[in-house]
Amino acid sequence: MSYKKVILKEFGGPEVLQVVTEEHLPEPDAGEVRVKVLATSATFTDTLVRKGIDYGFKETPPLSPGYDMVGVVDKLGAGVSGLNIGQMVADLTVWGAYSQYMLRPASGLVSVPAGLDPAEAVSMVLSYVTAYQMLHRVARIRRWQTILVHGAGGAVGTALLQLGALLDLTMYGTASAAKRDLVKGLGATHIDYAAEDFLRRVQAGGGCDAVFDFIGGEHFKRSFQALKKGGVLVAYGFYDNAMGKGGNVVVDFAKVALWNILPNGRRARTYSIGDWRKKHPDWFKEDLAALFGLLAEGRVRPVIARRMKLEEAAEAHRLIEQAAVQGRIVLVVHE
Ligand SMILES: NC(=O)c1ccc[n+]([C@@H]2O[C@H](COP(=O)([O-])OP(=O)(O)OC[C@H]3O[C@@H](n4cnc5c(N)ncnc54)[C@H](OP(=O)(O)O)[C@@H]3O)[C@@H](O)[C@H]2O)c1
Repeated sequence: MSYKKVILKEFGGPEVLQVVTEEHLPEPDAGEVRVKVLATSATFTDTLVRKGIDYGFKETPPLSPGYDMVGVVDKLGAGVSGLNIGQMVADLTVWGAYSQYMLRPASGLVSVPAGLDPAEAVSMVLSYVTAYQMLHRVARIRRWQTILVHGAGGAVGTALLQLGALLDLTMYGTASAAKRDLVKGLGATHIDYAAEDFLRRVQAGGGCDAVFDFIGGEHFKRSFQALKKGGVLVAYGFYDNAMGKGGNVVVDFAKVALWNILPNGRRARTYSIGDWRKKHPDWFKEDLAALFGLLAEGRVRPVIARRMKLEEAAEAHRLIEQAAVQGRIVLVVHE
């Protein structure tokens, strides 16, 4: 049986993403599962994979992007137990999920409760686990504290605001004017970063217990200055650098490490979902399962701006790089 997938033969712009047809379904080796992919996300992180600049990414083309997926178990490799054909599962794949079928190690799959919408469920994997672990495991935020979320109208930003609202946090969110209503609707004070100095605004309010920053460069320093005594900066990306606005990723992260050890009464941490999963695979599974629970109870509801087809992956990447997405895009692979 043939199947479709999106591949890139070289790193580059959205135009390198092409749909190809493979003649035969992949066969699972021992310990592997063939998954029929139902949904995968299109995120800013996928654009980094496409450009070959995702932090620590070592694969070379040809390859399919696709950082996460929800699908159904289609075939079991030898020795796989505890999974059934037709069962819905999720995984952080890092690459390869822009495909109708893919192989995954059985050991990493997380069961998805029956009845969840695959597009909503896949939103939990990269964006919400990142938000959840940064809030709960890195910042260790407590009820009624104050946070500043940059890029608050994006995929991770909207996840942070929804999870923050569950803790009754006071929240500031930076975003363009176009995302004002979205950010306010999620319970945060909107700061239009193009028109207003976020640092002055937040300091006037007494500062924050945690700031979540993926912009990088001088932005990290200003976010650090927005902290109260005892507060924590969580640095988790290098957006400006990836968008060609300069900066140096290694220097940025070295500075964060330095601020963390200087006696200044504040902490500074970096976060990478991939590194955390490698170190604590059990935490990844536990946190994703907790998020599926919150989704099933209707306590979180991912903001899905567009549901697009696999064939529209290049267009999805263009929209993301133009910052034209309110929340997130999901690629619906099988209806
Ligand atoms: N470390 C990890 O494990 C991890 C995991 C997931 C994601 N990430 C990183 O986290 C970042 C966000 O990911 P995402 O999926 O949420 O991206 P996204 O959905 O594309 O959202 C990012 C949004 O930030 C806004 N923005 C751009 N410049 C800004 C600035 N100077 N100040 C405030 N907002 C600004 C843009 O919207 P507006 O300009 O319209 O407001 C943009 O759409 C990316 O860099 C991604 O690579 C890291």
